[in-house]
Amino acid sequence: MAASIPAKPPYLGFGLGLRPQHYQEILEGEPVIDWFEIISENYMIPGGRPLAMLEKFRARYPVVMHGVSLSLASTTPLDMDYLKQLKELAGRIQPRWISDHLCWTGVHGFNLHDLLPIPYTQEALDHVTARVYKVQEFLGHPLTIENVSSYVRFARSDMTEWEFLSELTRRTGCWLLFDINNVFVGAFNHGYRAMDFIHGVPAGQVVQFHLAGHSDMGTYIIDTHDHPVRAEVWDLFRAAVEHFGPISTMIERDDNIPPLHELVAELDEARAIAREALAQGKEELCLAG
Ligand SMILES: [Fe+2]
Repeated sequence: MAASIPAKPPYLGFGLGLRPQHYQEILEGEPVIDWFEIISENYMIPGGRPLAMLEKFRARYPVVMHGVSLSLASTTPLDMDYLKQLKELAGRIQPRWISDHLCWTGVHGFNLHDLLPIPYTQEALDHVTARVYKVQEFLGHPLTIENVSSYVRFARSDMTEWEFLSELTRRTGCWLLFDINNVFVGAFNHGYRAMDFIHGVPAGQVVQFHLAGHSDMGTYIIDTHDHPVRAEVWDLFRAAVEHFGPISTMIERDDNIPPLHELVAELDEARAIAREALAQGKEELCLAG
């Protein structure tokens, strides 16, 4: 049975991942950043400087929570201690949404510290659906689920990744974090058409875009988050905005972190591309009408 779909959260504009290297500069200056995404696990602690800093940001900006440890697709039972801490943090900072990935990160007590892909089978869909239900019921909030980058595929899948995500959304009412770079990486590594992914997910459920830089190894691409966004990913972003309309967008940078002004300039580029894409969409609508 399909879940009732909760109201989609409001559009936030253009944000960045909150990184300690930039705390001071952001709080002292007034960079044009509309909102921040935090890595939930970095703040799931009872007190101390990270939480104190986060509360300062929360007083000034909308914040969303992004986790990397839920291990939604694992067959190990959900970690209720982790979920309790996640819920406590959410209660404290009231994020606009809480996201994690369609992946598994470990099994039988081993954490592999990687976002691992799953087979897109009916069995996996039933399994993940049941876990998303449990998580949403516990949090009292829809979960936002992100597509991951992958480098291998399972020999057997009953459906595409976007069909899996669409059905998961229909069954659970979860929202989607659409990582544009991950779609680009997956399309290159696995040989599908990125536009098929874009057209294959329910637009009404997408609440956030991720943009990031990757490393092109020639015959495959790795999602390293240590470069500026590449030109071909900007092109895909433009196509995504034309298709989905305005979606809260942020740039992920996790390694080789540059000075803040470089990320702000990249964010300005995202704004300019989105503005053009939306104007283009309106023009086409007028011509069609
Ligand atoms: Fe991402």
